[in-house]
Amino acid sequence: MAIRSFIAGIGHFLPPQTVTNFDLEKVINTTDEWIQQRSGIQTRHHVEPGTGASDLGTQAALKAIEDAQIDASEIDFIIAATLSPDHYFPGIGVMIQANLGLFPIGALDVRNQCSGFIYGLSVADQYIKAGTYKKILLVAAEVQSPNLDYSDDGRDIAVLFGDGGAAVILEAYEGEDKDKGILSTHLFSDGRFFKDLWMEVPSPREKPVFSYDMIDSKRCFPKMNGRHVFINAVEKMPDAVNTALAQNQLSIEDVDHLIPHQANDRISLMVAKKLGIPVEKVIRNIDHIGNTTAASIPIALDEALKEGRVKEGDLVVLTAFGSGFTWASAVIRW
Ligand code: UT7
Repeated sequence: MAIRSFIAGIGHFLPPQTVTNFDLEKVINTTDEWIQQRSGIQTRHHVEPGTGASDLGTQAALKAIEDAQIDASEIDFIIAATLSPDHYFPGIGVMIQANLGLFPIGALDVRNQCSGFIYGLSVADQYIKAGTYKKILLVAAEVQSPNLDYSDDGRDIAVLFGDGGAAVILEAYEGEDKDKGILSTHLFSDGRFFKDLWMEVPSPREKPVFSYDMIDSKRCFPKMNGRHVFINAVEKMPDAVNTALAQNQLSIEDVDHLIPHQANDRISLMVAKKLGIPVEKVIRNIDHIGNTTAASIPIALDEALKEGRVKEGDLVVLTAFGSGFTWASAVIRW
């Protein structure tokens, strides 16, 4: 039987500080009503200064290792997805490796923003299918709150993003169930629109790489063409799911749970409508987590598992869309 990978363990970690829309009203020219109507978000988590994505990722990784009932030393390789690394370089994969004491296994960073988890899952799946590695730690973690523009210019983004981390252990499946595990991953991008959701500077294209002008002009903060991102998200995520279902000779009726990237609850509901999947099958947690970019899908998956919503044998479909543009889907038989 061909080797297939499966998620053997999962965990997530949120910084303890919860920030409500009413808290944001005190620092941003916004209202709870606007945020809830436009995005469905009520609360999100923000880190205290001094905490980076590698810290959230490490805590999540420890939980995933425990859940998989393995010893950390059994991990062959690390993949870490983030758009908000602790430092310009190196990536957070090596920091997580150091925190876990897993010398000298390889650590790869994935820079695919909201699609980062599925991109990382795809890479891990290929390595396991090829027989290169047997147990891979895949981490997705984001710390976005310290670098948001809380003025009117950035309030569209500042109210959406939250901090958080999640991790999974991918293993080669050795059991008898030929249907179990990652059935497929599909990855897409369209770099023509990279400026529709980006953080322009600091950039080695400019000299100096950092300047006061970058702060004054606010080019150092994430910027988004919200409407264009929205329109593409509600088109590309259903496309990615339909491509995946067709390849697996499955139909939307076969899907037990759809986990879209939690960018905006209106987007998740429109994706569900386009796919013709009942809303009860769509896992949505943006109300209390916000948009945690790469971490959003595995946090939602972990919550759904802990609530007992996702059960052995269920068909779980993941889909994401975000900066790049990048988008993706994955089909998993739990
Ligand atoms: O995870 C990566 C992918 N990201 C996404 O998928 C996000 C996609 N985009 C969206 O979710 C939505 O575009 C937003 C939630 C960001 C914005 O919703 P919208 O319905 O597209 O609003 P808008 O940007 O068109 O703004 C409508 C109004 C504007 O005021 P005027 O020009 O009509 O007077 C904005 O200035 O809302 C104003 N506005 C706000 N008002 C209160 C923008 N942000 C805020 C805010 N509070 N936080």
